Amino acid sequence: MKHSSALSRGAARAHLDAAAARERLALNQAGLEAARSDLQTGAVTPHFGLWREEIIALLNDALATEWVCVLRYRRHHFTAVGLASPAIASEFMVHANDEARHADRLARRIVQLGGEPDFNPDTLTQRSHAAYSPVRDLQAMLRANLIAERVAVEAYSQMVALIGDKDPTTRRLLESILEQEQHHAEQLADWLAPA
Ligand SMILES: [Fe+2]
Ligand SMILES: [Fe+2]
Repeated sequence: MKHSSALSRGAARAHLDAAAARERLALNQAGLEAARSDLQTGAVTPHFGLWREEIIALLNDALATEWVCVLRYRRHHFTAVGLASPAIASEFMVHANDEARHADRLARRIVQLGGEPDFNPDTLTQRSHAAYSPVRDLQAMLRANLIAERVAVEAYSQMVALIGDKDPTTRRLLESILEQEQHHAEQLADWLAPA
């Protein structure tokens, strides 16, 4: 990809100057100059610096996780039809579609950062933080989905903390997905609770 080339000399200097500039609460002028001149890097400016590729890697792992969740929820939706609770079966499809939207938002951000979204099905489950879990009964499905949602909540929380102010746009995206994963986990926990 065009963005994966080494940092330009201007961008590298901008990085060295960044720490000093922060101590004075002054803008890093070399960074602004690189923003004016390094047009080939699109929306990626020196502030991303060395973190860009690590952020893309984190986002690609999250993308794999979302896709495994799409597949697990769809599997549970179709196999739960006819079990005790049609309402829960149909909610599995709602969650599946939420996870697909999360995946699309992550893929869009990866491209904005100059990366390539990894949709390779051969490695999806190895890269995902959550498991596919092709279980058969409703309680086991609810439990597997609650585990996956809790893993997603933990992974997104850690990513938000790791990214911090390195990339506020990505952090806000992750915070918004995190809020929805917490809602999913809450719903599943309610359904699992004894009546
Ligand atoms: Fe999700
Ligand atoms: Fe979720």
